[in-house]
Amino acid sequence: MTDPQIVLTERVQQALANAFGPEHADADPLIRPSQFADFQANVAMSLAKRLRRAPREVAAEIAAQLSDFPGTVEVSGPGFLNITLDDSWIATEASQMFDDPRNGVGTTTPPQTVVVDYSAPNAAKEMHVGHLRTTIVGDSLARLLEHLGNNVIRQNHLGDWGTPFGMLIEHLLDIGEDAAVAQLEAGMGTEFYQAARTQFDSDESFKTRSRMRVTTLQSGDPETMRLWHVFMDATVRYFNKVYTMLGVTLTDADIAGESMYNPMLEQTCDDLESAGVAVMSEGALCVFPPGFTGSDDKPLPLIIRKSDGGYGYASTDMAAVRYRVDDLKADRILYVVGADQALHFRMVFAAARQAGWLPDTVSAEHVQIGMMLGKDGRRFKTRSGESVKLTDLLQEAVDRGAAAIADRGYDEDVRAEIAHAVGMGAVKYADLSISHDSEYVFDYDRMLGFTGNTGPYMQYATARIRSIFRRGGYDPAAARGPIVLGEPAERALALHLLGFGAVVEQAARLAEPHRLCAYLFEAASLFSTFYEECPVLKADPDVREQRLVLCALTLRVLETGLDLLGVPVPERM
Ligand code: ARG
Repeated sequence: MTDPQIVLTERVQQALANAFGPEHADADPLIRPSQFADFQANVAMSLAKRLRRAPREVAAEIAAQLSDFPGTVEVSGPGFLNITLDDSWIATEASQMFDDPRNGVGTTTPPQTVVVDYSAPNAAKEMHVGHLRTTIVGDSLARLLEHLGNNVIRQNHLGDWGTPFGMLIEHLLDIGEDAAVAQLEAGMGTEFYQAARTQFDSDESFKTRSRMRVTTLQSGDPETMRLWHVFMDATVRYFNKVYTMLGVTLTDADIAGESMYNPMLEQTCDDLESAGVAVMSEGALCVFPPGFTGSDDKPLPLIIRKSDGGYGYASTDMAAVRYRVDDLKADRILYVVGADQALHFRMVFAAARQAGWLPDTVSAEHVQIGMMLGKDGRRFKTRSGESVKLTDLLQEAVDRGAAAIADRGYDEDVRAEIAHAVGMGAVKYADLSISHDSEYVFDYDRMLGFTGNTGPYMQYATARIRSIFRRGGYDPAAARGPIVLGEPAERALALHLLGFGAVVEQAARLAEPHRLCAYLFEAASLFSTFYEECPVLKADPDVREQRLVLCALTLRVLETGLDLLGVPVPERM
């Protein structure tokens, strides 16, 4: 691992152990970026308190242990250690990174089996903008974890079951299969649902038919199941259009919708009941996980089987936890789902732990997705107040992307390709660059901006590096090290690039892709400064060669990083 912050942490820990005894070998040396040096270590202050000694003295003893360190270590202020790395160390590490096909990114050892539950739209309604975000963030997490060598199992927990399917199937029969399929494939699920609902509320015989249909559906009647499949297949074809537009890695093989768990639900309830984890309460079978109380201070139930004998969202999720641990052999399960479901997941995890279905060795994490807001600060809607069709929403981003590059003289098909990348890159990067749990304003103007921490800016930064190579007649893949550092801007860029492996690991471990965005944005900014201050193509041949190597390493870091985010990178813009 070349990340300087990690190297420094280890070195200072060693120094602490040498100076003050092995019990300090695990102390956090508190290495932070510094204004006055590359890094500072703040550990002397807290350690001095415990040792009842003067902080500057403690700092000096640590510094003395670092005399063979490839850089300078100075005691400053009340007891900070200011650390500046030698240029030669940075250059050597950067050269090694350049020779490493993985760009300094390690692998998780031992690799884990990670189930990533993401996207998960509901078939009985239109896929809405919230699902755009669970899809984009989840896909980036899957890519990051996979890149680190983990066995990633994608699970698209579609909402594909429940009582509304009675009326949906009856409505499908009323308008005819072909018309229904056409409507659903076109993404008009909401209209379809609303039409069925209106009929249900106004027509007694339709209501009766719908209720009977729920019963035949639940009993697995072959013809009803066939109709359900017709409905679901058309709906999934629409979801797939959205996935294809976005370039997410989900396939039909990843679909593990609620219906998949139907055959397990009875057993789920029986096992929970006989283990004494679930009890009957007011006719319903409930788990009362400890520590959850309602507003009236009464224990809060997680309802596993309703009083009418029906199963719900919690029943399915209990079965799903068990399946993911026992059958999929998960070491870690990520639920990339709206923040408004936080209580549900805390209760499901607690109940599953109580039942022994989720052992302590398996981590279950709700990656909370903040609500998507409109520019007016309210829940995102179109002007007419209707829900928005996602394919339209995405197409608008592509159209705006096309307008932004209209004057650059590209041929029609090249332009369409770039516009697609810019539009989708803008939407995806906007979702990824802020922490996943913060609320988020859907604003085309901001996300399609070519300045600031946006998708188009990041794409432009990579395209600009590619164009340097093109103009000089060089191939970035043919660049050969070593990396040589002269100017401060070169040094700053190289030092930052060394942190790539660590940030990828951290983004995956914390399930926080925005950390990678922030890192890449900083890399692009440092590259800009470098490019302003250090001519590349106009430099003397040997300096030019050296700088091209740094350009090539930056390009690889940016392109690899954006790929891990799932942001497409056009070669030119
Ligand atoms: N379909 C649900 C929704 O739209 C999300 C499902 C998330 N996954 C899960 N295992 N509950 O809110």
